[in-house]
Amino acid sequence: MAIDRFGRNIHYLRISLTDHCNLRCVYCMPEDMTFRPSAALMQDEEVLQLTSLFANLGFDKIRLTGGEPTVRANVVDIVRGIAATPGISSVSMTTNGVLLSRLAEPLAQAGLQRVNVSIDTLDPEKFKRLTRWGSLDDVWQGIVAAEAAGLTPIKINAVVVAGYNEADVVDLAALTKAHPWQVRFIEMMPFAGATEIQVRQAVTAGRIKESIERELGVMEIANQGRLDGEALLFRLPDGKGDVGFISSVSHPFCASCTRARLTADGRLRLCLLRENEVDLLTPVREGATLDELRDLILNGIWEKPWGHELAKGVIPMNRVMNEIGG
Ligand code: 5AD
Ligand code: SF4
Repeated sequence: MAIDRFGRNIHYLRISLTDHCNLRCVYCMPEDMTFRPSAALMQDEEVLQLTSLFANLGFDKIRLTGGEPTVRANVVDIVRGIAATPGISSVSMTTNGVLLSRLAEPLAQAGLQRVNVSIDTLDPEKFKRLTRWGSLDDVWQGIVAAEAAGLTPIKINAVVVAGYNEADVVDLAALTKAHPWQVRFIEMMPFAGATEIQVRQAVTAGRIKESIERELGVMEIANQGRLDGEALLFRLPDGKGDVGFISSVSHPFCASCTRARLTADGRLRLCLLRENEVDLLTPVREGATLDELRDLILNGIWEKPWGHELAKGVIPMNRVMNEIGG
């Protein structure tokens, strides 16, 4: 088991398959973003080798992220390999949904269980403005395909940006009246690459909840008030699904954190909002033994941080969001 010095059992690994993306969301990266060369990213067999190592240390839950994980060549084969790794019981993916209409079925066949799809507004023009390159219709088709392929329950992620989609949270939340989905509002977090907008245009979960309730009625707490992953869940009057709030900035959920991240370039990232990382890919390529790699992981996990330092003005600047994958 991988335990940290605060006694947390870390068993959930989020693997970024690539830093590349087919969108350019304003809250994530600059439009002229440059990406790492493929050789600097974990190769397919390196992803599977590291997955198996983490599984041996008690990790049972994997989420694939990016950048955009579906633009990675061989993503279906990688999913198949991860799903077949002894010890791994849950394989899910966070995606922008652009390629899902084509990939949902093969991914489900390969062993993917669920997807979280990002949609920040239901207005096609605002969607284009926020993602710079995206078409809402493509993503909607992707969600339809994901539901048909059984990648359920569907979770929708929305990042709220003042001046872009603040007013759109009402229509997004209202989706849970018609669909058994979980629509989760994520507080925007600051990193390198888009720091100014991330700091200046952030909206707190509290304010988002107020706007929804003003229009759609007071929500009841759901899931007995327990966090579902990182989301605190509520239900609208007549809701079929849940409305979730991920308040990583205003109310961090460090006490219940069970996660670690593997960046696309093979670094173990111990906390999204802190810079601490352990390089695993270089030792893998230099032929480190399994025991050596195991020690690197366990020692890294032991030092997993607690709490961010955003209130003190300390922003993690060693990564752009797309390299960590949220
Ligand atoms: N703050 C919070 N969430 C973000 N995401 C991307 N950039 C940010 C940010 N700065 C979200 C994406 C996606 C998930 C991977 O992370 O919208 O849902
Ligand atoms: Fe791509 Fe996701 Fe970043 Fe948007 S948030 S640019 S979809 S990686």
